[in-house]
Amino acid sequence: MLEPLAPIGRDPDTDGYVRDAWSPAEMELREWFAGEAARRGLDLREDRNGNLWAWQGEPGPGRPGVVTGSHLDSVRQGGAYDGPLGVASAFAALDLLRARGVTPARPLGVVCFTDEEGARFGVPCVGSRLLTGALDPARALALKDDDGDTLADVLTKAGRDPGRLGRDDETLSAVGTFVELHVEQGRGLVHEGRPVGVASAIWPHGRWRFDFRGQANHAGTTRLADRDDPMLPFARMVLAAREAAARLGVVATVGKVRVSPGNANAVPGQVSAWLDARGAGERDVRALVRELAEGAGAAVAEESWTPVVSFDEALRDRLARVAGGGGTPAPVLPTGAGHDAGILATAGVPSAMLFVRNPTGVSHSPDEHAEQADCEAGVVALADVLEDLCR
Ligand code: GLV
Ligand code: MN
Ligand code: MN
Ligand code: MN
Repeated sequence: MLEPLAPIGRDPDTDGYVRDAWSPAEMELREWFAGEAARRGLDLREDRNGNLWAWQGEPGPGRPGVVTGSHLDSVRQGGAYDGPLGVASAFAALDLLRARGVTPARPLGVVCFTDEEGARFGVPCVGSRLLTGALDPARALALKDDDGDTLADVLTKAGRDPGRLGRDDETLSAVGTFVELHVEQGRGLVHEGRPVGVASAIWPHGRWRFDFRGQANHAGTTRLADRDDPMLPFARMVLAAREAAARLGVVATVGKVRVSPGNANAVPGQVSAWLDARGAGERDVRALVRELAEGAGAAVAEESWTPVVSFDEALRDRLARVAGGGGTPAPVLPTGAGHDAGILATAGVPSAMLFVRNPTGVSHSPDEHAEQADCEAGVVALADVLEDLCR
């Protein structure tokens, strides 16, 4: 099922995917979603925030459905599985239930959340955050991409009404339970020797922008003593982040940097760097950011913060039992990766996640992988879980 998606947004030089929200690549993927829904006779809806829903059976007041799915956008130069595996598996699990002759007693939905990665506008899980009211629509609309286009501009260009963005109780009330299947982004299942696992928790995590300002100047004629070079405090911050993360037992990453004006023969005038910090303990993550901000000599802005997510234990154990296929329950693992399922869980929607083994653990990279047999095991587990939840 992922095969028709393989060329969409693929960079032929790297085999990586660039599937920014609302880009031509993501629009093509949304078309694919609509086609898959139509092929199965599902009722397709786009909600106020651009999330796509395909329903088998009509959800309504007092009749919420069981929903599964994920996202189709990617990080820049991402892999083929982060997101699309969950959406393709959702459709495949519906097919499997039909082949089994199962008539679900509840409406069944497949969802594609928009802009999960935040690759374009900086804030992750924009679609699910807007849906649940966790992101203020005015703030979302003002977010800018690297070209300076706001989300409002981009939505207008895509033929959407930016004025409709915001908390959507009607759509949300249709979701009785949400299950997101995702490629594992680590090697937990490799260590367990199992193809499928269940999420226990998502670490608290956030993104911060550090703006280091200096004085742009000539690289040849400006004496060292006369320089105000923002690259130096930036470099110190990167090293300090690594040292503090190791000391505090968290992870910290500087994966995006913008150097202005970006001349090889000029001292830069400004360096902007994005810090991503996560860990099991919120206090440690906060301590790291505070420590870096205090020592950096930069203007620091929090771009997003996601508190810890502890998935509903009863639902989690039910999934582990069902996904275990009658044998040993599937292993239960925490993750440092953010997901729309976490946003829904925080909003009070009973939510859970299935992970599919990733042989190398590599993710957010073209090297991300999952074996065909493990993907199939994921679909079977998801179908079993949906069948159980729809009783
Ligand atoms: C999403 O994949 C994230 O955890 O950044
Ligand atoms: Mn991701
Ligand atoms: Mn993902
Ligand atoms: Mn010159």
